[in-house]
Amino acid sequence: MAAPGEPPSGRALLRSALQEISADVDRAFDTLLDIPDDPRRPLIEAMRHAAIGGGKRMRPLLVKAAGALFSLDPGHLLRAGLAAECIHVYSLVHDDLPAMDNDDMRRGKPTVHKAFDDATAILAGDSLHDLAFEILAGEETHPDPFVRINLVRALAKASGTGGMAGGQMMDIAAESAVFDLPTITRLQQLKTGALIGFCIEAAAIMAHLPSEARVGLHGYAHDIGLAFQIADDLLDIEGDAAVTGKAVGKDAQAGKQTFVSLLGPERAREQARMLVEQAKAHLHGFDERAGLLRAIADYVIERDR
Ligand code: IPE
Ligand code: IPE
Ligand code: MG
Ligand code: MG
Ligand code: MG
Repeated sequence: MAAPGEPPSGRALLRSALQEISADVDRAFDTLLDIPDDPRRPLIEAMRHAAIGGGKRMRPLLVKAAGALFSLDPGHLLRAGLAAECIHVYSLVHDDLPAMDNDDMRRGKPTVHKAFDDATAILAGDSLHDLAFEILAGEETHPDPFVRINLVRALAKASGTGGMAGGQMMDIAAESAVFDLPTITRLQQLKTGALIGFCIEAAAIMAHLPSEARVGLHGYAHDIGLAFQIADDLLDIEGDAAVTGKAVGKDAQAGKQTFVSLLGPERAREQARMLVEQAKAHLHGFDERAGLLRAIADYVIERDR
């Protein structure tokens, strides 16, 4: 506990920020995903199952934390964060399908194709993807249409062949091909890093930040993106399914190459720690307004879920 008048520690700052963003994101999805009284009902129920309750909400939190650097409108930031979370949740719904990782548990609940069926899960993922862009294109996200179109383009790039979907394709190949460390690094940058990069970029776009002023933020996003996926791969071998809310041991079982399989857990952990220190160093030009971004960087590798 901080003494009265003292700024809260990074951990305390993070704890309250995580609670707040989780409540905000749940409330927003509850409003956006109204259940219709017609045969589309299971589709929206499946989207709600995937999007509401659970998850760390790291991506909306990153948008909020980056937005704090420029004192941006919290409502605008929440909508950009929701769009990123929509893409993330869609990627998880599809990632869990039998055709991909074939997982039964996600965020402590049955996966969408288990609770519903494969077809509904595919459509729920598709519709979450579409909802992301509907949110970004909406005037409530930003009054300036140039900002909105830049947000749309940035999220599209982070989601498609040059981002998450491309990384997922490489990830499937990583079960049979032999990849070297630079290739695994690229895989992880695309699969996980690109969407994390969007979250930081979204704040820079909304702040009309010139590209030369974005260098430090890009460096931060790059480093925590990689560290985040290394932590995910470490949790797959060392985590507790009751805490992570998803099965563990899946990567080794699939013979998937990861940072951890290539380097071993000790060196992978060391690499992740180094990346987090480097990420924080990229923020040196920012004052205490970067406190939450610094706390998130630490959390990326300290987390147990
Ligand atoms: C898991 O992401 C999948 C990866 C991209 C590594 P998170 O660890 O952010 O999952 P949730 O959102 O907390 O469930
Ligand atoms: C998936 O990576 C990342 C996505 C883009 C969905 P993983 O397959 O390692 O994610 P988990 O471990 O199932 O959450
Ligand atoms: Mg996967
Ligand atoms: Mg998976
Ligand atoms: Mg994983």
